[in-house]
Amino acid sequence: MSDSPVFDVPFMLGMMRLHEREALHTPERLADWIEARLDQGLYWFDHADIYGNRQGESLFGAALKRRPSLAGRVSVVTKAGIVTPGRDTSPHGIKHYDSSPTYLIPAIDDALLRLGVDRLDHFLLHRPDPLMNAEATASALDAAIDAGKVGAVGVSNFLPEQWRRLQSAMRHTLVAHQLQLSLAHPEPLFDGLYDAVLSDGLSPMAWSPLGGGTVFEDVLGASLSRLAQAYSASSSGLALAWLRALPGHPVPVIGTLKEERIDELLTAARHDIDRATWFALLEEARGQRVA
Ligand SMILES: NC(=O)c1ccc[n+]([C@@H]2O[C@H](COP(=O)([O-])OP(=O)(O)OC[C@H]3O[C@@H](n4cnc5c(N)ncnc54)[C@H](OP(=O)(O)O)[C@@H]3O)[C@@H](O)[C@H]2O)c1
Repeated sequence: MSDSPVFDVPFMLGMMRLHEREALHTPERLADWIEARLDQGLYWFDHADIYGNRQGESLFGAALKRRPSLAGRVSVVTKAGIVTPGRDTSPHGIKHYDSSPTYLIPAIDDALLRLGVDRLDHFLLHRPDPLMNAEATASALDAAIDAGKVGAVGVSNFLPEQWRRLQSAMRHTLVAHQLQLSLAHPEPLFDGLYDAVLSDGLSPMAWSPLGGGTVFEDVLGASLSRLAQAYSASSSGLALAWLRALPGHPVPVIGTLKEERIDELLTAARHDIDRATWFALLEEARGQRVA
């Protein structure tokens, strides 16, 4: 595979917490926020229909509608396939996964409407569905690409055999895999998942790259802070540099919406760490010596 990343940004902006940030809930204020990110060169925004029970996509769409000049500048990822209990119409009212065409086709159309964009640049199946009929799902996803509704399709949280079963039924190529990967969750580097992502030519996106904030806690947090001082860097910048050192250069999907934290991460975006520091951080993260 090529070593150049598909996502040529230092990180993507995750929208999972947007519905919790009331200060950004007016279209005008959110449009200002989006425009400031675009001016920083940060143009990938990561959504999912379940974020805030569709509120994340709707707030974003309202901001683009308020300032239409932004719509042509943003690139969006969104995901579907998780049905929350409140949206399950069965008597069970149960959270479940649905990769059937009857679920996915309207899910894509609805996301386009909520986000107010002509095309979903990347559409991801949010979770592997044990009941997936690969041929039916593949045909729905191929058709969405053919219709121009979706730029590219990928997966999230899939195991290799799960995405390979889907890929073998598709005409178009799966482009990306969004997986949980960070100092707080380094397992994919040791169980073959990350290597399979790269071997199959999928572009990796790392969700919760700061472990949802947990990398700043306990022993790992203290080590990050100490090493950050030695590097004249920030703890958060060092945690992303640890990811950036990996082959395939996973693009972190960060969660903070606070401008000063985003600025800090951007300042650190060119920061590299050496091999010994990478392993020192791994030891602290796993709480065990490298064997
Ligand atoms: N595909 C999937 O299944 C999946 C699952 C989960 C998430 N995601 C995606 O990944 C994105 C990021 O997830 P995440 O929010 O868990 O990511 P994260 O970047 O690992 O964590 C963000 C959290 O860390 C906190 N934090 C504390 N100190 C920080 C600092 N110095 N710099 C930055 N953040 C700091 C933030 O607090 P403040 O908000 O107060 O700044 C926020 O609560 C989501 O928005 C979503 O797009 C995908």
